Amino acid sequence: MSKNIRRLDQILANFGYCSRREARGWLKHGYVTVDGVVAKDPSDKVPLGSVLVEGEPLDAPEGLLALFHKPAGYVCTHETREGPTVFDLLPRRWVRRNPAATTVGRLDKDTTGVLLITDVGELVQRWTSPKHKVPKLYEATVDGDLRPELIPLFASGTLLLPDDDKPCLPAKLEIIGPREARLELTEGRYHQVKRMFESQGLNVTRLHRSRFGDLTLGDLKPGAWQLLPVPIL
Ligand code: URA
Repeated sequence: MSKNIRRLDQILANFGYCSRREARGWLKHGYVTVDGVVAKDPSDKVPLGSVLVEGEPLDAPEGLLALFHKPAGYVCTHETREGPTVFDLLPRRWVRRNPAATTVGRLDKDTTGVLLITDVGELVQRWTSPKHKVPKLYEATVDGDLRPELIPLFASGTLLLPDDDKPCLPAKLEIIGPREARLELTEGRYHQVKRMFESQGLNVTRLHRSRFGDLTLGDLKPGAWQLLPVPIL
């Protein structure tokens, strides 16, 4: 059977609307139509494209990819122990999908900017693997004056951070103010931007990611998101 034809209760559960058990109730309430006709039987096998839930087509049936403007104060995990999570700001059904939506890499709690959310495992693999060298652009403010010597040092591919066993890959630093810089990285080590500046005696006081690959925020406000088509890998 085609992946696009599934039981109705499975569709509702897989796309995070409700559990398979709850699906019967959803159908009884008339929330779901198939080709415009109210559906009744949870075991009916139907094409994904024919289903409307509360009048709306299924969310991202071909796979979910969203560009999200992460605000400060939210962690990039499903764990709620560390405070509010970015998933608190996104539709609940995204995390209830199977597979569940996750972030592509992480930003620190206090970091803002471009964060991708997806349920497509291959995208996470591809965009976080250092092998693919996806460029990420950060805007940082630091607590001391930026010295021009940092530009060739960060570009050299020789900067070894404490506790790491390999030096950082060459990174492009642009100094745009006495304490403000843009830094483009092609890897995503733990707290990498902060640790690179820290290794030179500077603390990062503000960090914003303005680009991930080709993707920028455009007019998206903090906390807002926009669905994107899933690229063919
Ligand atoms: N580097 C950091 O130090 N923090 C982030 O959130 C992202 C990159």
